[in-house]
Amino acid sequence: MSKPASVLFVCLGNICRSPTAEGVFRKLVEQAGLQDHILIDSCGTSNWHIGKGPDLRSQEAAGKRGVDISTLKARQFTEKDLDAFNYVVVMDRQNLADVKDIWHQNGGTTPALFLEYGRSELAEVPDPYFGGEDGFEHVLDLIEDAGADLLRTIQESMA
Ligand code: 4NP
Repeated sequence: MSKPASVLFVCLGNICRSPTAEGVFRKLVEQAGLQDHILIDSCGTSNWHIGKGPDLRSQEAAGKRGVDISTLKARQFTEKDLDAFNYVVVMDRQNLADVKDIWHQNGGTTPALFLEYGRSELAEVPDPYFGGEDGFEHVLDLIEDAGADLLRTIQESMA
């Protein structure tokens, strides 16, 4: 296994979807025994919640599935991330447009929608912030499915 991989999950606030994706994906990577070969992080396109922990509703929903995201802290996406990570995976089309603005100026890794992976017919992981508890469960379902497929893709690229 020669080529190391690095994955950055991006959403708007870095307090709901992308920290959930970071936690779920880290668990999948650990289960596959690849924690020394795949670097994982998350961030937000906005500066709104820098330094804050994940939304308590995300922490609770992830915790019920055995994923602890309580120690994560929000940070903002920067152009350096496009050089540092070889998978830059975003949650929705607005995230994609925001990251692509920077990508056009900087170059580096081409950002992709997370739900290009997995079996969902949705293109975007919906923002659960202003909705009810169901939204957080739906986000987890989508992330678990897409995360498993992303990991398979990375494993194939490392082989
Ligand atoms: P996230 O969700 O992008 O999944 O972290 C949001 C978090 C906060 C806000 C919007 C979306 N907000 O408006 O503060």
